[in-house]
Amino acid sequence: MKFSNTLTQAISLLSLGLAVEGSGINIQRDDACHPHRPFRPMPPSHPRVKTCHVENHGNGVDDSKNILQALHQCNNGGKVVFDEGKTYTIGTALDMTFLKNVDIEILGTIQFTNDTNYWQANAFKQIYQNATTFFQLGGEDVNVYGGGTIDGNGQVWYDLYAQNPLILRPILMGIIGLKGGTIGPLKLRYSPQWYHFVANSSDVLFDGLDISGFSTSKNTAKNTDGWDLYRSNNIVIQNSVINNGDDCVSFKPNSTEILVQNLHCNGSHGISVGSLGQYLGEVDIVKNVLVYNISMFNASDGARIKVWPGVSSAMSIDLQGGGGLGSVSNITYDTMYIENVDYAIEVTQCYGQSNLTLCNEYPSNMTISDIHFNNFHGTTSKKYEPLVGSIVCSSPNVCSDIYATNIDVESPEGTNEFACTNVDKSTLAIDCV
Ligand SMILES: *[C@@H]1O[C@H](CO)[C@@H](O)[C@H](O)[C@H]1NC(C)=O
Ligand SMILES: *[C@@H]1O[C@H](CO)[C@@H](O)[C@H](O)[C@H]1NC(C)=O
Ligand SMILES: *[C@@H]1O[C@H](CO)[C@@H](O)[C@H](O)[C@H]1NC(C)=O
Ligand SMILES: *[C@@H]1O[C@H](CO)[C@@H](O)[C@H](O)[C@H]1NC(C)=O
Ligand SMILES: *[C@@H]1O[C@H](CO)[C@@H](O)[C@H](O)[C@H]1NC(C)=O
Ligand SMILES: *[C@@H]1O[C@H](CO)[C@@H](O)[C@H](O)[C@H]1NC(C)=O
Ligand SMILES: *[C@@H]1O[C@H](CO)[C@@H](O)[C@H](O)[C@H]1NC(C)=O
Ligand SMILES: *[C@@H]1O[C@H](CO)[C@@H](O)[C@H](O)[C@H]1NC(C)=O
Ligand SMILES: *[C@@H]1O[C@H](CO)[C@@H](O)[C@H](O)[C@H]1NC(C)=O
Ligand SMILES: *[C@@H]1O[C@H](CO)[C@@H](O)[C@H](O)[C@H]1NC(C)=O
Repeated sequence: MKFSNTLTQAISLLSLGLAVEGSGINIQRDDACHPHRPFRPMPPSHPRVKTCHVENHGNGVDDSKNILQALHQCNNGGKVVFDEGKTYTIGTALDMTFLKNVDIEILGTIQFTNDTNYWQANAFKQIYQNATTFFQLGGEDVNVYGGGTIDGNGQVWYDLYAQNPLILRPILMGIIGLKGGTIGPLKLRYSPQWYHFVANSSDVLFDGLDISGFSTSKNTAKNTDGWDLYRSNNIVIQNSVINNGDDCVSFKPNSTEILVQNLHCNGSHGISVGSLGQYLGEVDIVKNVLVYNISMFNASDGARIKVWPGVSSAMSIDLQGGGGLGSVSNITYDTMYIENVDYAIEVTQCYGQSNLTLCNEYPSNMTISDIHFNNFHGTTSKKYEPLVGSIVCSSPNVCSDIYATNIDVESPEGTNEFACTNVDKSTLAIDCV
């Protein structure tokens, strides 16, 4: 009923000549998913019938009050516009989890202030891995698009982090508790840390994100993951270009029913499951993930699965853990082109543990099963030559049904060896050494 009402309204709006473009009417969210469809149909968007333009002060003056005002005015069936040619400044942590049936059209530029003291005290604490976010956007049926720019003003953070690795650098896009939404097209620039943290969310499509931002000083932009998904279900990420310095996409604990397709990743750590099993007493689940048609350039990995062994250890001040429980299952990587990538495929159940004897003595409490690597081609970097990949389980008992087919990957010198440990080689059509 709701469906046909909404459709009727949309058609009547169209016949009145009103703009409904990008309003995410029904079916469109799913229709935008190509060539694979989401694991579950996404819920419909309701029509938007009013428009609010956000006023800006200019000159770096905080526009947060204007933004909140426009969002409240046009919430429940409207569209909030950030006008073309204008730069909006945000110097206040905005809680936007009250949104419902609203579109946010960003045509201009939004920039966050570089007041590192303010943001360290006020950015939203998301607890997991000490993550903090500039804002949190959530609610129900929210579309953010327009092709404009969201700029995290990250340089000051890259420089500060080089002095103190424990500072809390805000994540550019905090998508927290969003049920139904489309994010993109948008340009995302200079995030202080990860570009997206997507938590407690479901039925969200990320489509057409252009991500980039490099440091201009000697201090590189670190941990600039494209997406980190956490406690989220039925998410699609597609048609995006990512130039960054850490995971292109990362599936953290309890990411389920995730489709990632048509990405161009450069400079990253690949498309990663994990790390998982880092925290004793916690249960991490990642299952039903399809990663299709990825081009991966200048990266440490193409497809990667990293879980901690069954014993705690400390690699460094900000990398310690192990012993957590859970499982990684039904993960498919299909069609990946690699160029100058250190390992085309890397699976490890000994993450964060340099002593492999110890890892085998304490096999991971995170099982890995039903994993498919299909249709890889391209050339690795020289880094691990003659190896082009590595599949290391901590015990055959906790790793099963791992398949590799049509893996046409070579090192610059033409070798194609994989390091395989504690894994059934009969389902791996690769050259295990
Ligand atoms: C997600 O929801 C849980 C349960 O309601 C809550 O404890 C948590 O703070 C929320 N946010 C994140 C980032 O996990
Ligand atoms: C979180 O912050 C605390 C306090 O600064 C620190 O001890 C801990 O190592 C941090 N954890 C992570 C995962 O960065
Ligand atoms: C902070 O940002 C302002 C405006 O973008 C810029 O003029 C200033 O140089 C920046 N300060 C630092 C310390 O980066
Ligand atoms: C694969 O992704 C690229 C963008 O990275 C796109 O141009 C191409 O059409 C996609 N191929 C298929 C079969 O969808
Ligand atoms: C791709 O990544 C490399 C290595 O990080 C970097 O030097 C290069 O500038 C990136 N390319 C683009 C288009 O950003
Ligand atoms: C993940 O899901 C498992 C199984 O439902 C649950 O036990 C665990 O608490 C969840 N973890 C988080 C961080 O939500
Ligand atoms: C496993 O993932 C595939 C997509 O790669 C999906 O079609 C299938 O339904 C999933 N299996 C289960 C049991 O959910
Ligand atoms: C990969 O890195 C090299 C060297 O930095 C750069 O010339 C090339 O453009 C990068 N590839 C892509 C796709 O950005
Ligand atoms: C690695 O672990 C084994 C087994 O616990 C231990 O005997 C050995 O000393 C460890 N090696 C190093 C270099 O710590
Ligand atoms: C976790 O793994 C360790 C080492 O393999 C094992 O001794 C322990 O029994 C496991 N714990 C659980 C709850 O499975």
